Amino acid sequence: MATQFQDTENSPYPGSHLSFTDLTDRLNSLSSVPSLAAVYELVERTKIGDEEVQPYLGFKEGNYSRHRVMKNEFVEMLVLCWKPGQRTPIHDHNGAHGAVFVHEGILWETTFEYKTETGLGYQSHRELRTGGLTGSEVPDIHQLGNPDVSGRDLITIHIYAPPLGVLKTYKLGSATIDLYTPAEPDFV
Ligand SMILES: [Fe+2]
Repeated sequence: MATQFQDTENSPYPGSHLSFTDLTDRLNSLSSVPSLAAVYELVERTKIGDEEVQPYLGFKEGNYSRHRVMKNEFVEMLVLCWKPGQRTPIHDHNGAHGAVFVHEGILWETTFEYKTETGLGYQSHRELRTGGLTGSEVPDIHQLGNPDVSGRDLITIHIYAPPLGVLKTYKLGSATIDLYTPAEPDFV
C-alpha cells in the first residue's frame, strides 16, 4: 500500500503536525509494539525538515548506509542513505513489520511470493517518490533500492516494530532461505 504525504490542508489531524523530534519522542515513549496502522498514522502526521535529518546523513560506496535514530524494546527508526544502484538483498523481516518513508529521491520496491514447490517468484513492483510511504506486513518479502537510472541519491526513513533481528533472505527461482544479519548502523 502506498500513500502520499499529506500536508496541512489535507491532514486528518489539522494543526497537529509532528516534527522529526516529536516522532522520535513518540516512538521512544511507546510501551508496546505498535501496529503498522499506528506507525502510518504517526508518520503521516510528521513533517520532517531537512535540517532534522542532516545529522543522520552519510553515503558510502558499495552498500547503502544505515543510521539509527532510536531503538527500544518495541520499535526502532533508521535513516538509510542510498547512492544510485544500491539495494537490499531480497528479504523479509522475520516477524517485524516495517514502514518506509521517502524523504528525498526515488525508491523502487519489488515484492515476491514464496512457494515451497516453485521457490521464489516475482509478485509486483512499485515506485515511490519524495513523500511516498509504504510498508510491509509480516510476512511480506521484498527488495528495496535506489535505481541506478535515478541518477540521484535517495534518503529514506524506516520504522521497524519490533526492532529488526536476523532477517531471512531469498533468491529468485530458488526455495532456499538463508539468514542475514543487517550490518550494524554506520552511526548509532
Ligand atoms: Fe525490508
